[in-house]
Amino acid sequence: MAELKPSIIVIFGASGDLAHIKIFPALYSLWEDGFFPDSFFIAGFARTDMDDETFRKTILDALNVNCRKKPINEDDFLNFSKHIFYLKSKYDDESSYKELGKFIKSKASEYNIPKNIVYYLSTPPNVYIKIIDGIQNANLTSSEFKGDNFSRIVVEKPFGYDYESAKDLNNKILSVFKEEEVYRIDHYLGKETVQNIFAFRFSNAIFEPLWNNKYIDHIQISALEPIGVGFRAGYFDKSGIIRDMMQNHMMQLLSSVAIEPPAIFHADDIRNEKAKLLKSIRPFSLNDVKNFAVRGQYDRGFIGNKSVISYKEEKGIPPNSTTDTYAALRLFVDNYRWAGVPFYLRSGKRLKKHKTEIAVFFKKLPYSLYGKDGMEKIKQNSIIITIQPNEGISINFGAKTPGFKMDIEPVNMVFNYKSSFKLSPPEAYERLIYDIIVGDQTLFARYDDTLIAWQFITSIINGWEKIEPPVFPNYEAGSWGPKEADDLINADGRLWNNN
Ligand code: NDP
Ligand code: BG6
Repeated sequence: MAELKPSIIVIFGASGDLAHIKIFPALYSLWEDGFFPDSFFIAGFARTDMDDETFRKTILDALNVNCRKKPINEDDFLNFSKHIFYLKSKYDDESSYKELGKFIKSKASEYNIPKNIVYYLSTPPNVYIKIIDGIQNANLTSSEFKGDNFSRIVVEKPFGYDYESAKDLNNKILSVFKEEEVYRIDHYLGKETVQNIFAFRFSNAIFEPLWNNKYIDHIQISALEPIGVGFRAGYFDKSGIIRDMMQNHMMQLLSSVAIEPPAIFHADDIRNEKAKLLKSIRPFSLNDVKNFAVRGQYDRGFIGNKSVISYKEEKGIPPNSTTDTYAALRLFVDNYRWAGVPFYLRSGKRLKKHKTEIAVFFKKLPYSLYGKDGMEKIKQNSIIITIQPNEGISINFGAKTPGFKMDIEPVNMVFNYKSSFKLSPPEAYERLIYDIIVGDQTLFARYDDTLIAWQFITSIINGWEKIEPPVFPNYEAGSWGPKEADDLINADGRLWNNN
């Protein structure tokens, strides 16, 4: 891959968690791998009182914990840190943006580089509007720069709180930036294994012909985590898992596994197909919400051998909270390819196992040559796309056991990233930041697919507000989730893939 163009990356909320856990580790890895030219600069923009040196020290400490290049070499960091500056600022203060403008101008003229700017919104979402106003009022967008410059804006999730607020936020951003300058991050799209879904489907002749309702019985998409709410109580209690995971990551996984092949592998062609797919999800009536949208909240329990507290006992969570820490949905995609194939989606915190996967189950044989026994043992062929951990793909089928008897047993054919490529894949944020600077929007959500996903999820949220919530907590920490989620899939004669 080529060296990136000279650019200035402005991180709003640079003193915060995300900047230290994900953004700087990704920037450092890109720099170590030689992607940045000498003329690149990072400006941290935040209120905390710090100078450049103190800020750089917080970054070094964070890299030593969170960066895949750790332990960090001191000389390398010293060179990297010369590109980092800190602007102690206020998000609603005109003079802070004037200072930012001066910083951009001085770096651009000192190094004789174009004003290529990436504005990265890494503050809580309630600050976004102030920042966009600040950028606009100080004339810091590309339309204000002359020549071959770009200015791009990166927006973190959650993108809005519901359909209406997402629409308002979109309108606000698009009143200042053009759609082709907007990068809505969904870090799942930056994961190697998620990108591999397209390669698996569209670069092989043997899978795509089976990828439809003629051969596929059902698809399960799971994102299960043993971690609890952690230090994010303030954010999470207002969101719940339905907004935190379902609206974005789960909808993106669903569209990646189910879209039609795009005309060409280009950002807008792929995103057109995604929008089409999301539009084909059958809307939920209130009755569907009651029957096909399960919510749960974790109780005390054990993660491994460690006893953990319930959601309501977590620091910062109200003791009467009715927020969902688990959700499971059964939905249908009403189009030619998927008519009649149920998609089961589930995601939750404090579950038994860390596993993010897409499990594609094929229809049963119409008839078994090996009698009832053979039928029982082979059950269903399946393809399991493991997104994390142990990234890979396995194909499960029946094979004859060695010996004189015609005995069939299920076996796995496994592709595993580590053993096949002997490389650890880059972090999702590395790939995404690289693409932002290159100007490739393929792995970013577009305004319409964000809104279509919100429309579907908002109908569930609104439905839940109308019906009595279950008695929470309703699942033990360290379990597979609430019994109602098992009932949801068992009612169709199927089981969750809990291997
Ligand atoms: P933080 O709460 O750490 O906030 C980031 C910075 O924003 C803070 O250091 C603070 O900087 C400033 N800030 C915080 N609260 C306010 C406020 N009420 N008004 C003005 N400024 C404030 O957030 P994160 O870094 O965790 O997340 C940033 C964004 O990324 C959020 O939108 C979040 O939803 C999203 N995100 C975070 C993830 C994570 O793992 N942390 C994962 C995925 C998305 P200062 O006081 O110095 O100005
Ligand atoms: C974030 C959610 O977007 O994704 C978190 O806000 C969740 O609640 C996280 O834990 C999961 O990401 P990953 O990459 O660890 O699967």
